[in-house]
Amino acid sequence: MIDTPAPAAPPAFHYTAFATDGAARLGRVETAHGSFDTPAFMPVGTAGTVKAMRPDSVAATGAQIVLGNTYHLMLRPGAERVARLGGLRRFMNWPGPVLTDSGGFQVMSLAKLRTLTEDGVTFQSHIDGSRHHLTPERSMAIQGLLDSTITMAFDECTPYPATREQAAESMNLSMRWAARSRAAFQARPGYALFGIVQGGVFDDLRRESAAALRDIGFDGYAIGGLAVGEPHAEMLRVLEGIAPHLPQDRPRYLMGVGRPRDIIEAVRRGVDMFDCVMPTRSGRTAQGFTWRGTVNLRNARHADDPRPLDETCGCPCCRGYSRAYLHHLIRANEMLGPMLLTWHNIQHYQDLMAGLRAAIAEGRFQAHAASVLAEMEAGDL
Ligand code: GUN
Ligand code: ZN
Repeated sequence: MIDTPAPAAPPAFHYTAFATDGAARLGRVETAHGSFDTPAFMPVGTAGTVKAMRPDSVAATGAQIVLGNTYHLMLRPGAERVARLGGLRRFMNWPGPVLTDSGGFQVMSLAKLRTLTEDGVTFQSHIDGSRHHLTPERSMAIQGLLDSTITMAFDECTPYPATREQAAESMNLSMRWAARSRAAFQARPGYALFGIVQGGVFDDLRRESAAALRDIGFDGYAIGGLAVGEPHAEMLRVLEGIAPHLPQDRPRYLMGVGRPRDIIEAVRRGVDMFDCVMPTRSGRTAQGFTWRGTVNLRNARHADDPRPLDETCGCPCCRGYSRAYLHHLIRANEMLGPMLLTWHNIQHYQDLMAGLRAAIAEGRFQAHAASVLAEMEAGDL
């Protein structure tokens, strides 16, 4: 008799914290599509591509999960089409986990003629003006069609500034939508649904929101409605107030953040996951991230500079090319310029996260954060 092993069941969605240093946490998230180490930075692949990067290049930087957008993909090429073509991961040739945002946030920032009701939001596409309706149920269905590893609840990002009354009303709507999202989400092993805490800059509303989401029960907890124009110190105060009210045994995700120093300060306060267009978008506008702050490669001071963008970086941009060459590519509008800068910037963010993880593991987070922040402040040489 030959033992035929039973087909392996997909791993359950699971978060493990291995070490803590103050509130900072080192962990790993296991999913149906592979695991990722936290604190993690997710490069943004809005339209089914991390712009200017092939997926194998994204993976080569150390990124283990990427983000996609319900709003963009439902409009073009359409969620049903992506489903017929094997889901977003197959479609874009990214074998690892993907997280998709739920659409409401992008509708509010990109779509035309938006109307918000209890049911959901009606809007006109920014691409062709066609009319669409997005609800918690439709957002869950679309993210299911995309075969998203981590689905985000449908929410409203409260604008800043907002009065207490506006923030409370908006948060309560998001909590009703969170319950509808949970009810509509088709649970599968290794897949996850994250709730999103809202409440503006009001600590008590944030705590109410966290409690409401805990009662519903999610696989992870995101913090939304931050980095929307409030002062940096205000964002940190809100984070500090909310992190202790989120379950210890679930990952925490700060949506749309941020600059390296925002990420360091959020990790210090117990956040595990981040996404931001900054490294990719600024890579397309000639901005490079270094350990001594950002550098604008369009600036004439780089025209004769034979040094790499960052002497300490191991990415293909820094190993093969000078600042002078990058400057030339940008001035000449050559597409290799944004490609190389995007690669470097994603590498820089991944190296930042790896450094934070190592520091937490070794119990030297505070000293590490202080030295990284001090060097960034010092400025480029
Ligand atoms: N991205 C940045 N902030 C938010 C938010 O509050 N909600 C959602 N869904 N996405 C975001
Ligand atoms: Zn580099």
